[in-house]
Amino acid sequence: MSPSTLTVTDNRTNRTYTFPIEDGTVRAMDFRGIKTSEDDFGLMMYDPAFMNTASCRSDITYIDGDRGILEYRGYPIDQLAQRCTYLEISYLILFGELPTASELNHWVYEITHHTMLHETMKKFMEGFRYDAHPMSMMISSVAALATVYPHAHEVHDPANRLLQIKRLIAKMPSIAAMSYRHSLGFPYVYPDNDLSYTENFMNMLWRMVEPKYAANPVLARALEVLFILHMDHEQNCSTSTMRMVGSALTNPYLCVASAAAALAGPLHGGANEEVTRMLDEIGSIDNVPAYIRNVKDGCCKLMGFGHRVYKNFDPRAKLIKQIAEDVFGVTGRNPKLDIALELERIALQDDYFVSRKLYPNVDFYSGLIYQTIGFKPEMFTVLFTIPRTVGWLAQWQEMINDSEQKIARPRQIYTGPRSRLVVPLAEREQNSGTMNQPVAL
Ligand SMILES: CC(C)(COP(=O)(O)OP(=O)(O)OC[C@H]1O[C@@H](n2cnc3c(N)ncnc32)[C@H](O)[C@@H]1OP(=O)(O)O)[C@@H](O)C(=O)NCCC(=O)NCCS
Repeated sequence: MSPSTLTVTDNRTNRTYTFPIEDGTVRAMDFRGIKTSEDDFGLMMYDPAFMNTASCRSDITYIDGDRGILEYRGYPIDQLAQRCTYLEISYLILFGELPTASELNHWVYEITHHTMLHETMKKFMEGFRYDAHPMSMMISSVAALATVYPHAHEVHDPANRLLQIKRLIAKMPSIAAMSYRHSLGFPYVYPDNDLSYTENFMNMLWRMVEPKYAANPVLARALEVLFILHMDHEQNCSTSTMRMVGSALTNPYLCVASAAAALAGPLHGGANEEVTRMLDEIGSIDNVPAYIRNVKDGCCKLMGFGHRVYKNFDPRAKLIKQIAEDVFGVTGRNPKLDIALELERIALQDDYFVSRKLYPNVDFYSGLIYQTIGFKPEMFTVLFTIPRTVGWLAQWQEMINDSEQKIARPRQIYTGPRSRLVVPLAEREQNSGTMNQPVAL
């Protein structure tokens, strides 16, 4: 077998270089040694949007986008979703192995006993406008927790890190529920330690005057499975943000707030909210062909379709269809489901979508389920944030422990002017690139 190396010739100098290939990868820094002269900076790799750059080694999540495979720590997502609880899998993602019964009991106890929020959070939440977006409230609130736990910045202390990890996993549902209740003008509900993770979340969302909240078991399990499907997805936009901000050794509450801010975008975790809006806009099955035509003409994207990594099918989308049936069995069918099914049917036969390998992703059906369970679309990304926090924290911890990692700092190709003279204010003439002719800043 030929050696695992790459040989490149720089035609500018006629010099040849040989680099090792490890795990199907060459090291970008090896290319820095390719120079035209001693004072040349060396060759860089240009990769906008990190389309072909591995930024880390990771043991956490495996994805094969061409074959539609997703595994957490080597376990296929469908087995985990069918056989395990949310907190069991959070333990797996964080510590690498499924817990024993006693480890799980201890873990559940620990998470359950960190669900309360400091009372200052209530006051903070009350400061938001009545119509503030719950995702913005959540991002701000988790950032505000850094003021409650200033010692959390001691990120090289493993015990300290673990304490913050437990707090964050435990408190995210409490913050999410508080932001939801705030937007409705309802009083906040304290956690109930007798309930499971998702039942307690439902309690904090929906308990009114009853002394004890009883969650519908089918809906609680559906929410749990949806959470499981969203826990980690390797180096996506928000996870890379978590690692990037974390690489500056920032307090983990601020890292999670940054990652959540990335998740909030409509091309990432905000897509499920957009899917529901799109289905509303389409309105009825009869309008589906015209909508598909518009998408193909480039007027907009079919939200909930396409994925940077999955080019076959999204395995989470398959599991979600089953959950939808379970939920609709309890709540009745969401009328938008028929529009979604028709969109999917037409798109999967249409050459535009087939040739571009555009399949329904996790967000295509999750919004419909959330809405049927009783959530407003504004809450959908908040629901995504709760479980993804586990993945962010596992990736953050892995990054801190990785001796190869340093503060993340990409390079650029500078394209602007150089060494200009500053003209005194009175002598300057209007030119292009002013506020009246906006340029991208
Ligand atoms: C997820 C997403 C950002 C991935 O983007 P990407 O990997 O950069 O893919 P590209 O934008 O390069 O798309 C490749 C082609 O498919 C088209 N395309 C991608 N997603 C599309 C969609 N949802 N609807 C219509 N066309 C789409 C692009 O216009 C492009 O077409 P072109 O080659 O004619 O220019 C993109 O598919 C998207 O915006 N989807 C909708 C939002 C969504 O559901 N996000 C949730 C992700 S889990």
